Amino acid sequence: MGFFSGFDGRVAGGPSILAADFADLAGQVRATGAGGAELVHFDVMDNHFVPNLSLGPAVAASLVSATFLPVDVHLQVINPDDLIPAFIEAGVCSISVQPEAVRHLYRTLAMILAGGCEAGLSLSPATSPEAVEWALPYVDYANVMSVDPGFGGQDFIPEAADKVRRVRQMADVPVEVDGGITEKTAPGMVEAGARVLVAGSAVFGGDPATEMGKIIASGRRASSGAEPG
Ligand code: DX5
Ligand code: ZN
Repeated sequence: MGFFSGFDGRVAGGPSILAADFADLAGQVRATGAGGAELVHFDVMDNHFVPNLSLGPAVAASLVSATFLPVDVHLQVINPDDLIPAFIEAGVCSISVQPEAVRHLYRTLAMILAGGCEAGLSLSPATSPEAVEWALPYVDYANVMSVDPGFGGQDFIPEAADKVRRVRQMADVPVEVDGGITEKTAPGMVEAGARVLVAGSAVFGGDPATEMGKIIASGRRASSGAEPG
């Protein structure tokens, strides 16, 4: 049972390592674990699909060895099929792709699932969930992005909450939210049905354990009375 397929509807949180001190990645991730993080969100950027360049499979493999938390890869690259086997080999638990960058979505999702990972779809803010409607039965989770992919520290796009609602109506899968998530923006996303809160700059801008804990707590407060995820 994977992290997402075994999900029980609680509110969970995880750091996006993009904003971490890469010279102390393992230490920073462990600190978020002390603050209640349940997964690590690993942003992969290729300087083609997005302007930024980040980390690859070798760093993912090192991180897998250094943490007990499942590593969730978010591929923000063109031709993700070229990289998926190396991330599977690295031992990550889940991989999401951007449909805007995928040529043949069923094949890509099948490749992830055949490798024993959970498969997810990450939707850019301007991408309608309807665009991937026919692929939703083949995913274990959806990542609704509340900023355009490429950088940490961008302004939260509030319309993403309505998209979370729409995705939840379309598919019974856990919804992760990613981009501008803070103690202040998390509650609205949880009320809309999101259950996995990913945050980068809000976590690593201060003490990672404390800040991670605050975001999870604010999401959990909002979940009482909200629909189960
Ligand atoms: C953006 C990434 C995010 C990013 C979030 O392309 O997918 O995971 O690191 O960073 P914050 O939380 O700072 O918006
Ligand atoms: Zn991400």
